[in-house]
This record gives sequence, C-alpha cells and structure tokens, in this order.
Amino acid sequence: MQVTLKVRRYNPEAEKPKDYWQEYNVEVESAGTVLDALIKVREETDETLALRCSCRSSICGSCAMRINGHAALACKTRVSAVAHQGEPVTVEPVGNLPVIKDLVADFQPFWDKVRAVQPWLQTAGPEPEKEYLASNEAMMHLAGVVNCIMCGACVSDCTVLEVDKNFLGPAALAKAYRFAADPRDAATSQRMGLYNQYGGVWDCTRCFECVQVCPKGVAPMDRIMALRERVMANGLKDTYGARHTEAFTEIIEHSGRLDELRLPLKTYGYTNIPKLIELMPVAIRALAKRKSPPVLHKSIPGVENVKRIFKKVDQLQKGDGKVSTEKAPPKP
Ligand code: FES
Repeated sequence: MQVTLKVRRYNPEAEKPKDYWQEYNVEVESAGTVLDALIKVREETDETLALRCSCRSSICGSCAMRINGHAALACKTRVSAVAHQGEPVTVEPVGNLPVIKDLVADFQPFWDKVRAVQPWLQTAGPEPEKEYLASNEAMMHLAGVVNCIMCGACVSDCTVLEVDKNFLGPAALAKAYRFAADPRDAATSQRMGLYNQYGGVWDCTRCFECVQVCPKGVAPMDRIMALRERVMANGLKDTYGARHTEAFTEIIEHSGRLDELRLPLKTYGYTNIPKLIELMPVAIRALAKRKSPPVLHKSIPGVENVKRIFKKVDQLQKGDGKVSTEKAPPKP
C-alpha cells in the first residue's frame, strides 16, 4: 500500500535550526509498520532522516514516537491502522523531552527522574545465604508493572509534564511503585517521604493519557494512585493532595454525592484565606455560568446504602487488608 508520511524534522546542524514538516511517499506491505516505512524512507529516499530503533519487536522501547499525535511504538503500529483514507500519517519525536535530531529525543531527563526514585531493592536484616526470596503470591500484583520497557511513551503524552517539568512523571513513578510494593523492600517510610514531595505522586492529574498510550499495559496512573494510598498509610497526610482525598471520601460517605462547595474548604482549610482568595475567580466563573454548587447540600436517597459500603470496606481493611485499589492492570 501507498502511504504518505509527514515527518517532523529538526537538524541542529542547520544554519538556523528550527523544526519543519517533510512529506515522503512510500510503498509498504499491507502488514507493514510505521517503523518499516521510516526505515524504507531512510534507506531509499533520504539518508539524513534520523530515528532510533533496535529490536523491531516491541521489546527494546527505542522506537517510541508520536504517530498521529499520540505516543506509540513505531514497530508495533501498522501503517494500515493509522493511514486513514489516504490522509498523511504524522510522525513526530516523543513529547516532553528535548529533541536531538528529527525523531531522536534526548532521554537524559527521563533517566534522571527514574534514578531519582531509587529504582533498586533496599533490603534490611541479615543477608540470606542465597538470595532474597518472595512468594509468587506476594509478587503477583507486580506482574503488570515489570512489563515496562522504558520507552517513554507515557512521559511523551503526560499532560502534567507539559506544564511542569519538575513532575517525576508516570514512568519514574511506576518504577517507584515496582520497588516500593516489592515485599523484599524495607525502605518504605524513606521512599514514601521521597514520593510525597513536590513533583511526586500528588502532581498527577489523572488524565489517563499514560494508561492509554502505554504499549505494555503498565497503567502508570494506577501505580501512582496505589503509591498515594501507601503514602497516606504511612501517615503522610499533611499535603493538599492527601487532604483532598480524605475530604472527598468523607463527603461521599456522609451524603452519597460530592459537595463541591465544601471540598475545597476542607482541602485547603476553612481559615486558609490566601488560598481561598486564589480560588475566588473559579467560584465567580462557576457562578456566571450557573455551575455553582448549591449552598444547601442534600444527601441522595438511600444514602444509608453508601454508608454501609464504607463500613464494609472499613471492616475488610481492618480485617485481612484485602481491599485495595492496587489492582493488576489489564494485559497489553
Ligand atoms: S524497535 Fe524495539 S521497541 Fe520498537
């Protein structure tokens, strides 16, 4: 099949380096991938096109790029799946990382953040004779997260990193979870303190982009939520994020629906005047659009059933601790 690739190019060695689009028409087999098409362009049409790849089998993670605006592995993306009715397929380097040349990004900031979460086991106690052992059962919840191939797709499309480069990001935090939730790790409280800081678990806005683009079903956002649970379980509750979580839960338990008026008051504190003044423009805009929540908040009919659910969950958590949002992610 014929396809037009519209590639975002950047040459740092040009006299005035700036990015631009270049189109290539290429013939690929019907089962051909975007990576096949790009390699064909480089081999037959334009040897100056820079891109990274290695395994061509969705294993090494080096061919992550943005295809039609979303991060994906070029070696896993069939041209036929993204070339809609003869429209050109746009191909760009991954987002949220500096570009070195064309489709090649500089992953140094990515690795710096992965390193910052201490991605190694920190054990305690006397060293065992052979190796540290963990039961299969205790490791099952890590089955999805260990699939991460560090391709950077989640980082590319993270909407928080678009506006705040200090955020550790989905890949690093998923890696943090992999070690924090390992039964052999003994650095829980030190880790939780680290992940609770500015740029850590509370900066995720739960936009689901990372879950959607991850080619391996790691579901980084779910890992970040699980880390939040662990942070709070370690007694670290003095952040807006933790207070927001507690306020949200309390309100739902009380009335069965969210009270959007009290949620910010409970989160920031009724006497936190500077923060409440900061929120005034939002309140005024909501009022102008007739979206402001009612001052008198009513419970939903049958709220006692909601309370019963909370009570049951509480009992289960106190009992065997089997209730948790730390679910295994869907298979890729
Ligand atoms: S080339 Fe290795 S994942 Fe695509």
